[in-house]
Amino acid sequence: MKVNVSAVNKSFSKNKQQPLKVLENIDFSISDGEFVSILGPSGCGKSTILKLIAGLDIPTSGEIEVNKKTVTGPGTDRVVVFQEGGLFPWMSVIGNVMYGLKLKKISKHEAEKRAMDGLKMVHLAKFKDAYPHELSGGMKQRVAIARSLVMDPDVLLMDEPFAALDEQTRLVLHQELQKIWEETGKTIIFITHNIREALTLSDRVLLMSTRPGRIKKEFKVQSARPRDPSDSVIVDLERRVMDELEEEMQKVLKEEFGDDYSFKTRDIRDRDRYDLGSHI
Ligand SMILES: Nc1ncnc2c1ncn2[C@@H]1O[C@H](COP(=O)(O)OP(=O)(O)O)[C@@H](O)[C@H]1O
Ligand SMILES: [Mg+2]
Repeated sequence: MKVNVSAVNKSFSKNKQQPLKVLENIDFSISDGEFVSILGPSGCGKSTILKLIAGLDIPTSGEIEVNKKTVTGPGTDRVVVFQEGGLFPWMSVIGNVMYGLKLKKISKHEAEKRAMDGLKMVHLAKFKDAYPHELSGGMKQRVAIARSLVMDPDVLLMDEPFAALDEQTRLVLHQELQKIWEETGKTIIFITHNIREALTLSDRVLLMSTRPGRIKKEFKVQSARPRDPSDSVIVDLERRVMDELEEEMQKVLKEEFGDDYSFKTRDIRDRDRYDLGSHI
């Protein structure tokens, strides 16, 4: 078992107020080389889970193990790719990709070689001397992925890495990420609020419920790769995920709109069936 999350609870307390319970009894395991998505509406605690696995925060109770060792802080076995790639604007593309390797005291020659291999993997070798402001959003995210891959982590943690990109770019990056995953055999935990994205990319989708976040249901995606989102297996699963979510969406809408609540989730489903972030 690569990643093991057992009985994890997380609450945040502000001053002396009642603590906000964000995660409740989270339990799941991820095998070596598996691609698992954590899917759920905004605010349900997805990033919080990822931060706990990354060791950027600690659970209120419960335990997280990576490679059979309890997570007590960040480590080089885990790397996070965030929604905004977080490139250093004053460094060239290759400078950004080499940055972590330099911190690890890897020789310049070796770091350069590994950075170029990483850039080739995301098809950006030609742009090695460009600066982040010269790149499109999709290219920046590809640099961020290359920068993570060169660190050779055991587990790649991705927090909505494509959420800010347009639909076309996102589809291209889905293909690219599937290829990278196949070539490297990395264990990937991918956070998203996009149903189609989760189903297109993953072996398994863990669906979360809202406040406090719990794992509501698990879906196995048994469809050959590279996946086409119009594949009948994916389309059928999409319907099943939406059905599970109906109740959650009602809950969120009611909380957010209060007395003005007159939406039907079905209206939302017809407008945009795949994205849990843009309308709620
Ligand atoms: N450091 C923090 N302090 C207080 N509340 C937090 C903190 N981090 C997250 N939260 C709250 O926890 C809930 C879940 O947040 P998050 O994990 O970012 O959700 P998601 O990534 O699913 O959108 C939100 O209500 C958020 O306001
Ligand atoms: Mg988040």
